[in-house]
Amino acid sequence: MATLITGCNRGIGLELAKQSKARGEKIIAICRTYSDEIRLVADQVIDGIDLTDRASLQKAILQIREPLQKVIQNAGVFLEDNIEDLSTESLLKQFQVNAVAPLEFTSLLIPKLADGAKLAFITSRMGSIADNTSGAYYGYRMSKAALNAGVKSLAIDLKPRNISVMVLHPGFVKTRMTGFRGDVVPEESASGLLQQIDKLSPNISGTFWHMNGELLPW
Ligand SMILES: NC(=O)c1ccc[n+]([C@@H]2O[C@H](COP(=O)([O-])OP(=O)(O)OC[C@H]3O[C@@H](n4cnc5c(N)ncnc54)[C@H](OP(=O)(O)O)[C@@H]3O)[C@@H](O)[C@H]2O)c1
Repeated sequence: MATLITGCNRGIGLELAKQSKARGEKIIAICRTYSDEIRLVADQVIDGIDLTDRASLQKAILQIREPLQKVIQNAGVFLEDNIEDLSTESLLKQFQVNAVAPLEFTSLLIPKLADGAKLAFITSRMGSIADNTSGAYYGYRMSKAALNAGVKSLAIDLKPRNISVMVLHPGFVKTRMTGFRGDVVPEESASGLLQQIDKLSPNISGTFWHMNGELLPW
């Protein structure tokens, strides 16, 4: 049984891999870019995988040889945009990476999932429509809201297989994505995220949580 994590060559994903490994889990790291840090941590690194490329996803699937108990889809992209100068390219790019790729990868991963597996998706509270009081960030908000909608359906569809699913906000974390600004470091974020995944069970499948344990609105 293994834990699969995407986007774990750096940032929050790398820290999720480190802490999961320290708990004794077998780690399969899915990365686009190689890093020495993930090579030192993971049991298997499958790199060169662009999650927006179907052939790349299929290549990754072929290299997964054991049942997955936990899957954390963490890879994501944040691009600045504003309504006066909206770029279709930027909107679509964020949709592809943040919403389409995690769903497409899940679809291909289904035969690899163990009975009772847990699927966690790293979203953002910026994808919460109810929580949006500051506007802007169109592509990021829309793409994470789309991810959330997809995960809700997954929770319903995978229930008969006893597979539980959740979306998680990691906090405002000091990573390359935020220019290393934020309220928390990746270590604290990853620790909180893993605690929430520990609590995931069929009766709370299809819910949205902050890494600090707060239930978030859609
Ligand atoms: N940091 C925050 O404050 C914050 C807040 C809310 C939500 N999040 C979410 O948390 C997750 C992790 O973010 P982070 O802060 O750790 O960001 P990060 O340091 O920028 O890391 C992003 C990761 O995603 C990977 N990635 C991006 N596009 C990819 C693609 N097309 N194919 C494969 N991998 C791709 C990157 O790989 P490369 O190295 O190859 O680019 C990298 O491993 C994201 O989903 C993000 O939206 C972060």
